[in-house]
Amino acid sequence: MPGIAVLGAQWGDEGKGKIAHLVSKDADYCVRFNGGTNAGHTVVFEDGSNGSSGTGSSEAEFKFHLIPSGAINKGCIGVMGNGMVLEPFSLAKEIKMLRGALGDSAQVRISENAHLILPYHPLIESLEGSESALGTTAKGIGPAYQDKVARRGLRAIDLLDPKRFSEKFARNLYEFKRKFPDSIELDSFETVKITDEILEAAESFKDSITNTIPILHDALDSNKKVVFEGAQACLLDIDFGTYPYVTSSHATIGGISVGAGVPATRLDRIIGITKAFTSRVGAGPFPTEEVGEIGERLRGTGANPWDEFGTTTGRPRRCGWLDLVALKYAARVNGFTELVIVKLDILSGLDEIKVATAYKLDGEVITDFPSQADILERCEPVYETLPSWDEEIRDRRAVEELPPTARSYVKFVEDYVGVPISIISVGRMFEETITTS
Ligand code: IMP
Repeated sequence: MPGIAVLGAQWGDEGKGKIAHLVSKDADYCVRFNGGTNAGHTVVFEDGSNGSSGTGSSEAEFKFHLIPSGAINKGCIGVMGNGMVLEPFSLAKEIKMLRGALGDSAQVRISENAHLILPYHPLIESLEGSESALGTTAKGIGPAYQDKVARRGLRAIDLLDPKRFSEKFARNLYEFKRKFPDSIELDSFETVKITDEILEAAESFKDSITNTIPILHDALDSNKKVVFEGAQACLLDIDFGTYPYVTSSHATIGGISVGAGVPATRLDRIIGITKAFTSRVGAGPFPTEEVGEIGERLRGTGANPWDEFGTTTGRPRRCGWLDLVALKYAARVNGFTELVIVKLDILSGLDEIKVATAYKLDGEVITDFPSQADILERCEPVYETLPSWDEEIRDRRAVEELPPTARSYVKFVEDYVGVPISIISVGRMFEETITTS
């Protein structure tokens, strides 16, 4: 059985939760390897369709920030790898939610080397000003990864030794108070009170803290199905994204190696997820952004949960046409073996559909995605206009049932990127999905 990666191919929010859940239906393990509470993966399905006895309502919705989406499937163990940054209070809350849904069969494993987001991290982020300058999620992601790289971070394993945890916490807090002497909020932080609260929250998950590397390799060795669920996406990757308007982790294929200890050679399928258009939250260049009517039409009003408003922050997302230059770059960097196109239903009823097939930079036409954000900022999209369709397509379950123009749109994307499209999502519900093969 295979190792499968599910990765965002754009600027995030591609609906990785639904696809990871779908791919993980019969998986033994679902693994997160990067990011932390900046991610927000929503999974929606008819009650009980995850193999549980249900939650009592007819439609169940689960929002995960830390636990991999596949863990909501009965029998699938959720693994949080060393490349993640874990916020203990959120983790305790999500584990409670998972146990509420699955009872005793809920299972997670937490890498002992995963770093922790601690209460001072969001505060440091606001004191450093990155929330306003970069439009971050303000969850303390950057400062937690800074501590990791500076080799002073606290890790999950430290939670197992309360004395060591409190000492390290106190030392770091002391240094931050020295660095920001004018912060009244930071000054009010008390080590004993905060560490007691964290250690109490950790009681609910400390038995799951372990060395996850042999677990994953043993699983792959014995032909178990292991799904790696990316958070954020290629263009937010710390190295391959539009730096500095990026997150602080590796959201691309290499993130699995460094964030879970599993090399790409162990992956049989590398699935890239793209929307049928493009969206991004936060600051940074976005060549195909539409600020007028089309942008609003693609975003939706917020009346529906699937409209383009952040799962984690509620912020309206910037929206625009599909950028094939960026998508091809993502396919190259990640080595996608297949593509999933989501939200095709949102394009129904438009007068025409545009896709960017090149950029114009200083009068020259280019097709390589620039590696510098300031150069990308100067790029004008070169569009190809494709015919649209009027029909509502959320009830279609086979490619042949799609309007011919919708089929040719999908084919155009497939041909340009050079990667086959294996799944088309036509709605946010689990069953609103077309498998192409
Ligand atoms: P951070 O990850 O909170 O540091 O934010 C850095 C950038 O990544 C900002 O532009 C955020 O809006 C963006 N970002 C982080 N997580 C997500 C996500 O899950 N979806 C979309 N954008 C994200």
